[in-house]
Amino acid sequence: MSLAYRILYAVGFTPWEQMAQPPVADQIAGLFAREEEGRDSPYGAALDLGCGSGIWSVELARRGWVVTGVDFVPKALRRAHERAEEAGVEVQLVQGDVTDLGAAGVGSGFELLLDFGCFHDELSDDQRRREAREATAAAAPGATLMLMAWKPGRRGPLPRGASREEIQGAFTGWRLMDEVAMDVPSGAPGYVKRADPRFYRFRRE
Ligand SMILES: C[S@@+](CC[C@H](N)C(=O)[O-])C[C@H]1O[C@@H](n2cnc3c(N)ncnc32)[C@H](O)[C@@H]1O
Repeated sequence: MSLAYRILYAVGFTPWEQMAQPPVADQIAGLFAREEEGRDSPYGAALDLGCGSGIWSVELARRGWVVTGVDFVPKALRRAHERAEEAGVEVQLVQGDVTDLGAAGVGSGFELLLDFGCFHDELSDDQRRREAREATAAAAPGATLMLMAWKPGRRGPLPRGASREEIQGAFTGWRLMDEVAMDVPSGAPGYVKRADPRFYRFRRE
């Protein structure tokens, strides 16, 4: 388990959670709505990879998805439990590694997979490939993957990012449907704006 994330959650320094408000929250709501179009709730099983304190897991459950969130930091998962309780929704929260979802026992048949901030951060190239392989095994045919990534760069302890090609290289068997720039909040730090965060949407073939 990552010491860095354990410390960040322990001291309560979780700046990525600031994305859970406009304009990012509105943009993500639009991306979720696109997956729900023409379908009735419950929409299906969704897997939140590196769910952290459950912001997006809870939002998906609130919208009518049957959600499993996986993260390896127990404190983050405790907060996710509280968040789900406060919202009055059910989310299955699993402590495990996204590079070994089989061992975590998350199951399969997920129609929507979300990775908001996990893949592009501290995983090595090999761990990224393993996350992709495990996520693919857990995904239903025709599933959608939504993945947010900063552009690649050297940023010290901040996420190293991932290019479109790097993501595609890991997620073989998935077709890139589209990518869109994240609506970075005007008050976000300069390094976030310069990182050009983007949402990538893939379809499992
Ligand atoms: C930037 S945070 C984003 C959390 C959450 N998606 C959100 O948007 O609030 C990245 C998350 O990925 C988790 N994470 C990183 N590597 C992981 C791994 N190999 N297995 C499980 N979780 C991991 C971290 O613990 C952290 O909660």
